[in-house]
Amino acid sequence: MFPAHIFEYQLLDSCLLSNLIAEIIKIQEKCDLSIWTADNYRDEFIRNDSKQIIVLNKKNIIGFAIMRLIISYKTNAYDSTELFFNEAEILQIAVDPAFQRRGVGKNLLKKIIEVGVSFGIKAIWLEVRVSNHKAINFYRKNNFYHIYTRTNYYRNPSENAWIMQRNSEKC
Ligand SMILES: CC(C)(COP(=O)(O)OP(=O)(O)OC[C@H]1O[C@@H](n2cnc3c(N)ncnc32)[C@H](O)[C@@H]1OP(=O)(O)O)[C@@H](O)C(=O)NCCC(=O)NCCS
Repeated sequence: MFPAHIFEYQLLDSCLLSNLIAEIIKIQEKCDLSIWTADNYRDEFIRNDSKQIIVLNKKNIIGFAIMRLIISYKTNAYDSTELFFNEAEILQIAVDPAFQRRGVGKNLLKKIIEVGVSFGIKAIWLEVRVSNHKAINFYRKNNFYHIYTRTNYYRNPSENAWIMQRNSEKC
């Protein structure tokens, strides 16, 4: 990959967050990603169970990924409840079209999985439009496989979703 800096975004200040969201929305529009508003991003970014990875080239954001850790719990023999993160869902991932097919997506995915694994996840999954061959190829290349289909899951246009998952041993 060409020199680029990949890091986990930490919420530092609301002004920085507004700038970041504006840049992310530009990439979202260029990539035809499912539409999130600035408020959707803001609400997501302040959640403790949400993790974001940003890719910078010089000072410009050229890619991002958002992952939600899914909280599970179990009750032990002493009847106390133990919370843990067993799995995670990738909610958004995109690379600026000018930088695609140079390994940025692969590194973005690698980094977000590393963050998930540091929280104990054993599996990671996502939803993708069945017509999004580019993304499906990309996920397959990165060890995700199709587990089932949700019919008419998407709107505008209406379309089925593939649920894809990466094997726990790969996480
Ligand atoms: C999916 C995406 C994040 C991949 O980013 P990237 O930086 O291009 O990924 P990489 O360079 O690491 O991987 C390239 C691989 O992705 C797949 N791919 C990427 N562009 C492709 C295209 N135009 N046609 C077919 N496969 C493609 C191929 O498997 C490719 O490997 P190859 O070059 O050896 O054929 C990027 O294409 C993107 O932002 N797409 C638009 C947003 C989107 O659809 N996000 C997913 C929503 S579920």
